[in-house]
Amino acid sequence: MPEPRQTRDIHQVASRLSKGGLAAIPTETVYGLAALATNDQAVDAVFVLKGRPSSNPLIVHLPDSSHVSDWAASVPPEAKRLMREFWPGPLTLVLPAHESVSRRITAGQSTVALRVPSHPVCAELLRTLGAALVAPSANRSNRISPTCEAHVALQFSGEDLLILEGGPCEVGLESTIVAVLPDQPPAILRPGVLTREQLGLRESPAFTSAKGEPVTVPGQHHRHYAPDSPAFWADEAALKQLGDRAEVAWIFCGDPRPVRGPSKDLGAEPGAYAQHLYATLYEMDALNPSEIRVIPPPRCEDWEAIHNRLSRLIRAG
Ligand code: TXA
Ligand code: MG
Repeated sequence: MPEPRQTRDIHQVASRLSKGGLAAIPTETVYGLAALATNDQAVDAVFVLKGRPSSNPLIVHLPDSSHVSDWAASVPPEAKRLMREFWPGPLTLVLPAHESVSRRITAGQSTVALRVPSHPVCAELLRTLGAALVAPSANRSNRISPTCEAHVALQFSGEDLLILEGGPCEVGLESTIVAVLPDQPPAILRPGVLTREQLGLRESPAFTSAKGEPVTVPGQHHRHYAPDSPAFWADEAALKQLGDRAEVAWIFCGDPRPVRGPSKDLGAEPGAYAQHLYATLYEMDALNPSEIRVIPPPRCEDWEAIHNRLSRLIRAG
């Protein structure tokens, strides 16, 4: 059976991609499953390998902002400011799509999602190619985004997939997605580690496209990031009731408590918590616990992206 293979050889990965192949690539947020954005067959293969519905559009990763005009029909002034201040980095901008952009990438929408990653290995790969890559997170549909090579390999075991080594991702959560469309206030479609305040954005009312349809992130409609083991919130009662069960795993938030099962304290600082959350879920899943219990982090803006992701994987009850 073929297995995913890791490599540090950027030229080998660039060569495979330029021939229409796929490769997993590091970014500062999470690993991506990349294909040349101008090759429709390669883009199709990404959907197939992920098991992703074709109605869920992909983010286009660019070497630098000089490529934006190939992909966006227009760039509103607020988008230019965000590009200047936050690219390269964990920010994706949804802009009006250039007419030449494949509908496979946009899922037939009139907008396109663009980002310039800052991960040095990814940046060098994009420079070497001098071309754009689509890259959804390198996980099977509805699974947790991988933040290191080993977790990409777990997702695609049995596949002949080349994984470009970049080490553990620094950010650990997917990019903040901001829609900036003409005559509309910018709107955060997916929270990330760059917060509204850091981005200098005001609270925006319900957001509509030029045609008056609500603009959303299609991939966020459904529950999206499930570990194998069921995850639930933990409170004092759960700690009391389940703390002595060896088969229950725990994730703490800066206030670890004595429990019998596997546990990890991700700390009370949102940056470090975000960096290690997905890797911790992979590690806990590998221990096959009966359930994973998560102590709720604080409810404030700095933790919004973490709450957003946790709410997608935690079950009620
Ligand atoms: O950090 C990230 O953004 C990672 C790394 C690999 O770059 N990528 C990532 O891609 O998270 P993906 O495909 O797993 O999530 C992208 C999200 C999806 O929910 C998709 O629906 C949304 O972006 N999206 C893509 N194009 C869009 C568009 N034109 N309008 C609204 N949402 C869009
Ligand atoms: Mg994803």
